[in-house]
Amino acid sequence: MTSPKITIVFYSTYGTNHGVAQAAVEAAEAAGAQVRLRRIPETAPAQVVASQEGWKAQADRAHDIPVVSHDDLTWADGIFVSSPTRFGGMASQTRAWLDTLGPLWQKGALANKTVTATASAQNPNGGTEGAIQQLYVTTMHMGMIIVAPGYTDAVKFEDGGNPYGFSTTPGALSEVGRRSVAHQATRLVEVTARLVGADLARADAA
Ligand SMILES: Cc1cc2nc3c(=O)[nH]c(=O)nc-3n(C[C@H](O)[C@H](O)[C@H](O)COP(=O)(O)O)c2cc1C
Repeated sequence: MTSPKITIVFYSTYGTNHGVAQAAVEAAEAAGAQVRLRRIPETAPAQVVASQEGWKAQADRAHDIPVVSHDDLTWADGIFVSSPTRFGGMASQTRAWLDTLGPLWQKGALANKTVTATASAQNPNGGTEGAIQQLYVTTMHMGMIIVAPGYTDAVKFEDGGNPYGFSTTPGALSEVGRRSVAHQATRLVEVTARLVGADLARADAA
């Protein structure tokens, strides 16, 4: 048996969700998963991206990360998604990507795969819970299995306590944030491993 396969997908205008995704990659690999890091494609016109220094800088940082494909999703046993919040919901780029998954939905290709999600917002109560729940609603249409963190680790009583998924404000991850993302990613790997009967070869087991 092999280790579970996890695809970590993010959209990020300014870098926050890229940082969350990177932390999830490290934790998922440490938990014994095979991991692919993928970005959701930008939908804003290139001249709009170039007109904002922070947006352009993030586009440059993420440039070499492959855009998520259907194969990245069918390959995976579990999917970790990180998105900004926009007006109380997920970013339109994330929504637009989900809306390209119709052919996979039609074939049932995402059914029984696990999913977990995180979100950022300018304000701690600016709508991350809604963004994550909207994302989960779509994954329910796919027949996916939601692996929310709930309060399954003490870190959830330190990180603001969103049981649907880690939530953060813009900028680099705090130490608590890093632990919370690690918990959520590790939980995804461990639950997924049970579902697919995979062996965990934890990086820290040696
Ligand atoms: C059009 C737009 C709408 C936004 N709506 C919200 C919102 O409803 N609540 C909030 O707290 N932040 C809101 N924000 C701030 C974003 O959530 C924030 O820039 C994002 O989480 C940063 O993530 P990133 O660095 O990965 O791009 C909005 C930003 C934009 C551009």
